[in-house]
Amino acid sequence: MSYPFQIKSLEQYHRDYKQSVEDPEKFWASVAENFQWKKKWDKVLDWNFKEPKVEWFIGAKLNITENCIDRHLKTLGDKPAIIWEPNNPEERVRLVTYNRLHKRVCQVAQMLKNNGVKKGDRVCIYMGMVPELAYAILGCARIGAIHSVIFGGFSAQSIADRLDDAKAEYIITCDGAYRGGKDIPLKAVIDDALVGNKTVKKVIVYTRTRIPVSMIKGRDLWWEDEMDRAEEMLEINDSSLIPPSGGGGAEMDAEDPLFILYTSGSTGKPKGVVHTCAGYMVWTTYTFVNVFQYNPGDIHFCTADIGWVTGHSYILYGPLAAGATSLMFEGIPTWPDAGRFWDIVDKHKVNILYTAPTAIRSLMGFGSEPLKGKDLSSLKILGTVGEPINEEAWHWYDENIGKKKCPVVDTWWQTETGGALISNLAGVTPAKPSWATLPMPGVQPVLVDENGNEASPELHSQPSPGSVASEGGALVTSGNLCIKAPWPGIIRTTWGDHERCRQNYFATYPNLYFTGDGALKDEQGNYRITGRVDDVLNVSGHRIGTAEVENAINMHAGVVESAVVGYPHDVKGQGIYAYVIYNGHHGDEDLRRKDILQTVTRIIGAIAKPDKIQFVSGLPKTRSGKIMRRILRKIAEGETGNQGDTTTLLDPGVVEEIKNGRL
Ligand code: WTA
Repeated sequence: MSYPFQIKSLEQYHRDYKQSVEDPEKFWASVAENFQWKKKWDKVLDWNFKEPKVEWFIGAKLNITENCIDRHLKTLGDKPAIIWEPNNPEERVRLVTYNRLHKRVCQVAQMLKNNGVKKGDRVCIYMGMVPELAYAILGCARIGAIHSVIFGGFSAQSIADRLDDAKAEYIITCDGAYRGGKDIPLKAVIDDALVGNKTVKKVIVYTRTRIPVSMIKGRDLWWEDEMDRAEEMLEINDSSLIPPSGGGGAEMDAEDPLFILYTSGSTGKPKGVVHTCAGYMVWTTYTFVNVFQYNPGDIHFCTADIGWVTGHSYILYGPLAAGATSLMFEGIPTWPDAGRFWDIVDKHKVNILYTAPTAIRSLMGFGSEPLKGKDLSSLKILGTVGEPINEEAWHWYDENIGKKKCPVVDTWWQTETGGALISNLAGVTPAKPSWATLPMPGVQPVLVDENGNEASPELHSQPSPGSVASEGGALVTSGNLCIKAPWPGIIRTTWGDHERCRQNYFATYPNLYFTGDGALKDEQGNYRITGRVDDVLNVSGHRIGTAEVENAINMHAGVVESAVVGYPHDVKGQGIYAYVIYNGHHGDEDLRRKDILQTVTRIIGAIAKPDKIQFVSGLPKTRSGKIMRRILRKIAEGETGNQGDTTTLLDPGVVEEIKNGRL
């Protein structure tokens, strides 16, 4: 495969960027020419950020799986689409060629049809990182069912909420999943999630760990049996494998939903971010090929879990649409030991490694010992995503893993953006440690103040963080990061509640998409993301709303009220600090803390467990009853000095008490 839209030089980047802004329709039409369409678009783009309404490639018909699989079969049929590395390094590696992927995806499509799944139906997927997860996702896309993947770390209650919100009728899961030394009982969690559920008709269970599972007659089915049945049917009909449209596969409208992915915001309830077929496909492929400068034959290893958007876009859809070889890893970076990533790079001759700062910081903590004897010379490009990367981690990655020969790309994006929006292009545009640098073509960032006015540059006498000191200081703009115009991968709506989408992203500043992040911009136009400016935490690269965690803590019987803030954490980036008013009398403080952690694990999942719980007698509130989070944040961060103006507080004394009891 060749990529005519791959940017090869800094000059070309500037040229393409300019064209993409001056004539977006022409620019994106020329990119979209490189995909397979059942019918081309009548109009490239229609949009307003008021409703909001964004439509790309209007009138076009396609099936994304034809682009991710069928069109590669002639040239890449025998080449690996997915290399699967199991949790246990002793277990057999699985190589999934494009031919095999095609076969399996068609089988899943047939299996879903056999069980009554139709275009537009929601299929919830709760599986470990096994190749069958990829087949399940693509099988849904094949027939136009909308997949909603839920990360394996979410609790039954979280799943129940999502099933309910999406009105999902089908679930695909595993008996269990292997993650490091743990076996996670996924089906049992699904069983709990289904207590009282009225919409789910079928649960298909893939066998991975073969732990005992309950199988309810009429509802629960084994994947293996259903796949066998599907295979026989495909053979009998000689319907040479569900064609991507007609004869079973779905011809999708450009703007038909492809998937829902739930993500946390500043309100208590996660939102179902909706991406559609054509724009998402074009955006993930375009950014994949450009950011990572992918060359045919390269082995791309994105370490994310497919339960998050990074896995959707850069393990599956982007790489597969580009005909790439994508490495999928079932386990965790520290098992059986902290050299696991480096073993994988060595074993599979990985060329591109894409991971999260939290993983880098955690591995950095083990020193150079785990790197000994590992041949990392296949690596060409390194990437990071998910949270701001500190300079120390950036340099460690660059020096110890990339041996200063591999460009490091810092890719800033969000579930809502579908793919990378701000990032250097490996080896093509300059890197700047801890800066995401320049916007992708089609992306028009703007920094605004609280009132929505464009922020102006200010002279910093100190060089801005991460920049090379320029004499006399540097001009730096600081503000809330917004985007002025749509790119093909932008969120279309929040499932079942379009108003929520408007409120969350398009209402804070008129006619702008608001990211929720703060950023700096230097004189060269580089961006540095400084972190969330709303009440959303980023813990180990996972988004968690403080309100969500508070709701979960407040569910605990002994809790009267709580307030949750983030604080800097060496490995996780941010840790969760909870202030809790408690009036129960069961057990000592330690036990009460553990009870609360259990409750949070039940309500959200282990990923949302607070790192610190401080019991307090009151919370600092304004006279109108609003919790002063600014003060709590400062205390959690260890700033015990002046808390700023506390005169508006109802009970200023409580601040002293909290300060003294700080953990
Ligand atoms: C943060 C993950 C700094 C940011 C793809 C964003 C980053 C949130 C970076 C989205 C980066 C992601 N530098 N911050 N390179 N990448 N973030 O939806 O706060 O899980 O808003 O998407 O992660 O998280 P999400």
